[in-house]
Amino acid sequence: MRVLGIETTCDETAAAVVRLRPEGGGEILADEVMSQIAAHAPFGGVVPEIAARAHVEIVDALVARALRRANLRARDLDGVAAAAGPGLIGGVVVGLMTGKGIALATGKPLIAVNHLEAHALVARLTRPLPFPYLLLLASGGHTQILAVKGVGDYDRLGTTVDDAIGEAFDKTAKLLGLSYPGGPAVEAAAKDGDPTRFALPRPMLGRPNADFSLSGLKTATRIAAQAIAPLKAHDVADLCASFQAAVVDVIEDRMRVGLRLFRQRVGVAHGVVVAGGVAANGAIREALARFCAQAGLPLVAPPISLCTDNGAMIAWAGIERLRRGLVDDLSVAARPRWPLDPKVERAPHGKA
Ligand code: KG4
Ligand code: ZN
Repeated sequence: MRVLGIETTCDETAAAVVRLRPEGGGEILADEVMSQIAAHAPFGGVVPEIAARAHVEIVDALVARALRRANLRARDLDGVAAAAGPGLIGGVVVGLMTGKGIALATGKPLIAVNHLEAHALVARLTRPLPFPYLLLLASGGHTQILAVKGVGDYDRLGTTVDDAIGEAFDKTAKLLGLSYPGGPAVEAAAKDGDPTRFALPRPMLGRPNADFSLSGLKTATRIAAQAIAPLKAHDVADLCASFQAAVVDVIEDRMRVGLRLFRQRVGVAHGVVVAGGVAANGAIREALARFCAQAGLPLVAPPISLCTDNGAMIAWAGIERLRRGLVDDLSVAARPRWPLDPKVERAPHGKA
């Protein structure tokens, strides 16, 4: 089984081909990603119109390149998967229409993939991991703790009531004059900083639900920075280190509660998976490793290239669905919001 995956929900245009191994798991035959970071950097964040236009300009060439790398023609595919949401709708439409066109021309099945489901399942591409497992999904747009019970079967145990974790990194970087995207810049600056210099809040710590709140932490960081302005390099380093230490504490606490809820509602977890761009953060990975060691569970952290937005995760989610006969009609619509767990209301901030 070989499936093409197309990703255009945010600021990455990506196309990949993944093959299902007979013994399970996936083999990535091609994985093309074109980041738009340079186009958005002057604005300090993703500009939806710029993103949609950039996707339109490049997606066909990326698909062609992925097929070439995989040494396949479109008609050799077994299915065409495209992210159909949630995300910036202009971009989502571009990728989904491209997928529909290829599916129509080749007569191959279309799989309209939920971008969040792709993040949730990609760990199973890299290694055998049975359901159910606990997932921390943390990116620029999403922050959720989920019980992954099966394909299309999720319980959302916690979410953010305001900013996503990656968004908090990005906004903190911006207010400290660091480059975009902020996560890597804050992490780099934090390396030389004193994490104890500023006593920043740990929002939600100790709460019995597994929700996050990040905007107060970001504001507290701003107030601490303003109090000692003008900032020298070591001040910025200390602020970043203090901010990151607060985020780490919050994640550890929220995951502890998430695992408790998982055990109450679902049962025994087979592991803990981390996905989304924030999973690139070394301090956060270390904290999760500590948490997993205490909980006696394996930590499955896919390679960073599969944690940030990519086409292979869309292709893999397509394979997981196609194997189960879950294919879509060509009339399927792009969705700006698409919660993984329909049992819960839309997140307070409208984030999936
Ligand atoms: O998953 P992703 O590539 O795109 C989506 O948002 O869907 O995640 C990007 C986010 C950005 O907010 C970025 O600042 C954050 O992930 N990020 C990090 C790190 N690398 C990327 N956050 C903290 N530490 C990092 N090293
Ligand atoms: Zn994503």
